[in-house]
Amino acid sequence: MKRDLISINDLDRADIERYLHLAAVVEGLPREHRLSLLRGFILLEMFFEPSTRTKLSFEAAMRRLGGDVMGFADVSSTSVKKGETFLDTVKTVENYADVLVIRHSQEGAARLAAQASRLPVLNAGDGTNQHPSQTLLDLYTIQRFFGRVEGLRICLAGDLKYSRTVFSLLKTLMMFPGNEFVLCSPEALRVPDYLKYDEDGHRLSFVETDDLAAAVAHCDVLYMTRIQRERFGDVLEYERVKDVFVLDAAMLRHARPHMKVMHPLPRVREIALDVDATPHAGYFEQVANGMTMRQAILLEALGVSP
Ligand code: CP
Repeated sequence: MKRDLISINDLDRADIERYLHLAAVVEGLPREHRLSLLRGFILLEMFFEPSTRTKLSFEAAMRRLGGDVMGFADVSSTSVKKGETFLDTVKTVENYADVLVIRHSQEGAARLAAQASRLPVLNAGDGTNQHPSQTLLDLYTIQRFFGRVEGLRICLAGDLKYSRTVFSLLKTLMMFPGNEFVLCSPEALRVPDYLKYDEDGHRLSFVETDDLAAAVAHCDVLYMTRIQRERFGDVLEYERVKDVFVLDAAMLRHARPHMKVMHPLPRVREIALDVDATPHAGYFEQVANGMTMRQAILLEALGVSP
């Protein structure tokens, strides 16, 4: 069976623990051994939407495991521009590689590709739907900071309506016991109602607030998100909320000493630059962990044990 990574909802707790363990193992390997693991394998990236971290960290992960990378990030340089369909593109490029990484603006695009392709497909973000490698790297980062992913107070803040990373992270952290959640956002950017219930119709347990200062004082992890301008149908609606939530160093004076600020990045205005110099800033370590977790994801997808 091929090993796609399409949605965090396809994984159970044991799967997630396996990825966390694999990332830790990869991180501890000697460089020479790591460089031999995926020699001869090719990763093909199809990025129909912009990306810095996801694209480059998958590339770095593949190269640091000894593999090769090819692909496109500018659709206008491909035959899609001439009218070639998404599925024909997938069925074409799968002949050149061993694993596909796809980012697309349409929800469900990665799943569609996985159904059509004989190669493992890794979802690098499909619209507002899923970004599973981001969720796994977020969990790995929490594990690195706290030595565990349970028994934590987690505040998810900012754009909770359009942020695909928030939905996935919330659901995943709920698999682990003792986690408590505060969802902090302007009224207009609250988590959509349909995401507030599990598959059995039970309401998920969390507190909703728009008081960021109070939430900052009581959490172990403050997970900030960008207001996603590109997802707003109405620019005026974006203008109304864009500067409502800005975290600065002064707001962190009442934070717990060990509290970590995370962010999937890119940030726009929501974390002031003076936060970077505080011991709470965790988002660049999160970036570094992203490459490690994506090494684990590639090994898992290609069925290679370290
Ligand atoms: N976090 C994240 O997905 O960043 P990019 O959009 O730069 O890949």
